[in-house]
Amino acid sequence: MPEREREAWDILFTDARLATMAAAGVPYGAREGIALAVKDGAIAWIGPTDDLLHRNARELLPLEGRWVTPGLIDCHTHLVYGGDRAAEFELRLTGATYEEIARAGGGIAATVAATRAASEDDLLQTARPRLEALLREGVTTVEIKSGYGLTLEAETKMLRVARRLGGDYPVTVRTSFLGAHAVPPEYAEDRAGYLEAVIAMLPVLAESGLADAVDAFCEGIAFTPEETARLFTTARELGLPVKLHADQLSNLGGAALAARFGALSADHLEYTDEDGVAAMAEAGTVAVLLPGAFYVLRETQLPPVEALRRHAVPMALATDCNPGSAPLTSPLLTMNLACTLFRLTPEEALAGFTRNAAAALGMGESHGTLEVGKAADLAIWDIERPGELAYRMGFNPLTFAVQAGKRRELPTIEC
Ligand code: NIG
Ligand code: FE
Repeated sequence: MPEREREAWDILFTDARLATMAAAGVPYGAREGIALAVKDGAIAWIGPTDDLLHRNARELLPLEGRWVTPGLIDCHTHLVYGGDRAAEFELRLTGATYEEIARAGGGIAATVAATRAASEDDLLQTARPRLEALLREGVTTVEIKSGYGLTLEAETKMLRVARRLGGDYPVTVRTSFLGAHAVPPEYAEDRAGYLEAVIAMLPVLAESGLADAVDAFCEGIAFTPEETARLFTTARELGLPVKLHADQLSNLGGAALAARFGALSADHLEYTDEDGVAAMAEAGTVAVLLPGAFYVLRETQLPPVEALRRHAVPMALATDCNPGSAPLTSPLLTMNLACTLFRLTPEEALAGFTRNAAAALGMGESHGTLEVGKAADLAIWDIERPGELAYRMGFNPLTFAVQAGKRRELPTIEC
């Protein structure tokens, strides 16, 4: 036995069933009767419990057959924002569409006004319960976008809040700068001027380290493919990875555009055609499907799931948590929606919140599967089979989560 294995582990789980989401050929990469050891924040050993040569661990946790999955990764959220849009929800119920509301100055613009008016501390406080809801369902990594500030000052305020959340909670936060989310009212007559202003923000953000990636909304109500390409050209020159809200409401060739810039992901994709899918496959761009927004907006155009499968484009899933198109803070419900509405299999749904979500954030080497050497980000579930995670609606079978090798307790919030 190598010397390393005789050292004390931080945590040793025994009698677990693992959905490793790693091994090809076995559904869920499943393994039964397994022990998993954690040391220094990483997975140190995985093998049959019966093969354990020692149980020298600071914490010994017999799991009695519970399932362990990689910690969930929510790879597309707008979790930090001011105000809410409940009134807009009511408006839509009387017949107004998302696009009509946006064109009339509501929608994203309404959240921009509320976000600008909010202090950094206010934004932090209102984001907390949303983040806590994600954590309660086993999320160990979350991506958080800016995009409701639309000035350098307000965008950096949002990104600082995202970073502070990552410091306050046991969760890994990845940030995306979404200055190209909408043209703000003060630039209504000067779109080109706003685009220039956003491009000018990029070096500042690259320098500050506040943004891990650059995102944009390429759509009739937002930015054209040409505008998006200009933004992405500068982002790539600065070494910032890109991702794109693509083909959500119409096909502007957003998926192919994202692929052309080697995007980590193209997201939404309801209107993406076969050429777009082929371009993503070629570039290794992950498809992030957002069934919550599809459901809320009562879309009828389904994303090209069959084509994505045929071209072996990895499919990730995310809540898209935002105040307009997806006031959703449940990855488990998102999995159910993806299976019910998009006909994903429960295994694809779980891969969408683990392995493929890690890839969508450029973290595939270190996160998203249960393998030795990867981050000890784990979710432990009281279920009989992994398909149950997508099967139920509004039920949370999480026993507990481990993030960066530490058993997670949520901090108590002082009021
Ligand atoms: O991902 N598509 C654009 N952005 C968000 C919606 C933002 C909002 O309505 O506030 C989305 O769906
Ligand atoms: Fe989004």
